[in-house]
Amino acid sequence: MTKEKLKAIRKSCKQHEKKLLSGVVIPSEIRTTFNDIRAPKETVEALKTLTSLSLIRPEAFSYGVLATDKIPGLLLYGPPGTGKTLLARAVAKESGATMLQISGADVNDMFVGEGEKNVKAVFSLAKKLSPCVVFIDEGDSIFSSRGDSKTRAASHRELINQFLREWDGMNDLSAFIMVATNRPFDLDEAVLRRLPRRLLVDLPVEKDREAILKIHLKDEILDQSVSLEKLAKDTPFYSGSDLKNVSVAAAMACIREENEIAAKHTGEEPHVFPEKRILTSKHFDKAMEEISASISEDMSTLSAIRKFDEKYGDRKGRRKKASALGFGGTTVVEKDSEAARVRKIEAS
Ligand SMILES: Nc1ncnc2c1ncn2[C@@H]1O[C@H](COP(=O)(O)OP(=O)(O)OP(=O)(O)O)[C@@H](O)[C@H]1O
Ligand SMILES: [Mg+2]
Repeated sequence: MTKEKLKAIRKSCKQHEKKLLSGVVIPSEIRTTFNDIRAPKETVEALKTLTSLSLIRPEAFSYGVLATDKIPGLLLYGPPGTGKTLLARAVAKESGATMLQISGADVNDMFVGEGEKNVKAVFSLAKKLSPCVVFIDEGDSIFSSRGDSKTRAASHRELINQFLREWDGMNDLSAFIMVATNRPFDLDEAVLRRLPRRLLVDLPVEKDREAILKIHLKDEILDQSVSLEKLAKDTPFYSGSDLKNVSVAAAMACIREENEIAAKHTGEEPHVFPEKRILTSKHFDKAMEEISASISEDMSTLSAIRKFDEKYGDRKGRRKKASALGFGGTTVVEKDSEAARVRKIEAS
């Protein structure tokens, strides 16, 4: 997919499809790669296989058992800020498929019949964009069994039903449906059935936290006083997103300090800022005062995700191979409190 091709597609689009065009992401314009994300190898492999196989090698799915038993979609679920959205973008980048990102606001509509027209447009546009990953982020806003407060229950049900009809009618593999949510327990049962592969994106354990900090601080200069190992130890319950915020807050604390030094500067020569800032442990102490683990305010959600995971989670690799749990196949058993994870960490 190129910008020119997209322009041509735009011309052929009807009114409802046009509204969705802002959600089209061209792979070459995505910057996120799998290298920017700390995730278990198994998760990355599963994502790559499921999307690229069905999109890039459709002929392999045109006959035999795969023709009738294709995988219609994939669910990414886990606590907030664990990298679900990031993973989906990396998938699109890697597979080279165009991504059509859809949010609740794109399809939910107060006016009778409009929601269904939007849903129809999602599928007809996906066909025009194929090969295409339809990525429904914050999927609970569309597929919640209850519906949100703005839309009435009956019309919400109708919207889901329309979605299911279109989904079942999709008779080629030109589109792959990927849904992400941090509220999987809210999802409608019929929707869940169409998402047979369900991948948990769990909170990071100590080693993962260290790796995530390294990713976000890779272009910063760290003073000797900074130990990312210790920081990782001191941040149980922190999600990838929280750790990114810690990194940002530390850099900001450093800038504040630089500014204070500049303000105090006297003398003839004008003050010159250092060419590159150097982050010290003091900056990280300040950051830790500012940023706390977001999930700790909402432990009930974590336990609800845990319940969902026990009932619906993709746990095949788990029983066979304990190492599937450690990120990157590590066998280290972390000391992390297990309360900070959706799934228990098992020794291998
Ligand atoms: N595993 C990770 N590795 C590296 N960075 C991460 C990771 N998880 C989260 N982050 C950082 O946090 C930011 C937010 O992550 P992202 O939006 O992917 O979370 P999410 O799982 O989609 O959360 P939500 O459920 O709230 O939508 C990312 O842009 C990234 O900077
Ligand atoms: Mg997200």
